[in-house]
Amino acid sequence: MQTPDISHLTAADYDRVYEPAEDSFLLLDALEADLERLRARRPRLALEVGSGSGVVITALAAALPECLCLATDLSEAACRATWRTAHRNGVTVLPVRCDLTAALRPRLAGQLDVVLFNPPYVVTSTEEVCASGGLAASWAGGERGREVTDRLLPQLPELLAPDGLFYLVAIRENDVDDLGAVMAGLGFDMCRVMSRRAGPEHLSVLRFERRAESGGTGPPEGGDVPHSQRP
Ligand SMILES: C[S@@+](CC[C@H](N)C(=O)[O-])C[C@H]1O[C@@H](n2cnc3c(N)ncnc32)[C@H](O)[C@@H]1O
Repeated sequence: MQTPDISHLTAADYDRVYEPAEDSFLLLDALEADLERLRARRPRLALEVGSGSGVVITALAAALPECLCLATDLSEAACRATWRTAHRNGVTVLPVRCDLTAALRPRLAGQLDVVLFNPPYVVTSTEEVCASGGLAASWAGGERGREVTDRLLPQLPELLAPDGLFYLVAIRENDVDDLGAVMAGLGFDMCRVMSRRAGPEHLSVLRFERRAESGGTGPPEGGDVPHSQRP
């Protein structure tokens, strides 16, 4: 997977939009490692929730040219940045400003082949969780860093296609085992695709798929050069 060109985004953009960081690059690396699995399913519709700069969904759109890529973000600035990043890299991504998937449900029920979420996962007070799309919405995750993620999880059984895949970024404090248990209760198996330490954060990318569809979910091989280390 090509790392998208984001040189059009400036410091002024990053005052309002999450600047791609280790978590973004780990998600890119995990998707690259899973690309054959993704391509084998011939995805037609993908969604990134909380697309920020658009770097991740743009890379996915470039890697899956047959797939229509949608994005949502609470932040208008992030939606604009996502559109610009896609345009800059010659792909189409359709950003929608809304809370999680609010603008897409129930119309897209059962239609999404791929859902991505690199959520605000930092443990904070509940009061810090931002509903208005300011920069704090990029990182403030409330109790256990789970308050935003936990609102999305129950939507996935409705949204995902029968063999759809959901990729989630999490840190250790989010309680990965419990994320697996919650999703198991919703009928999904979890696989840890990739993990990496970034400063104090122990980051993982988790992949979920419906239990009935399970099989061959062993951990994939890693990519060649991590996206964070590419020029
Ligand atoms: C950690 S940043 C990730 C940005 C980008 N996906 C990346 O990996 O670089 C989280 C993003 O989620 C967005 N976000 C937070 N809460 C949201 C919500 N309830 N609905 C939609 N987007 C949300 C933030 O505005 C931010 O752009």
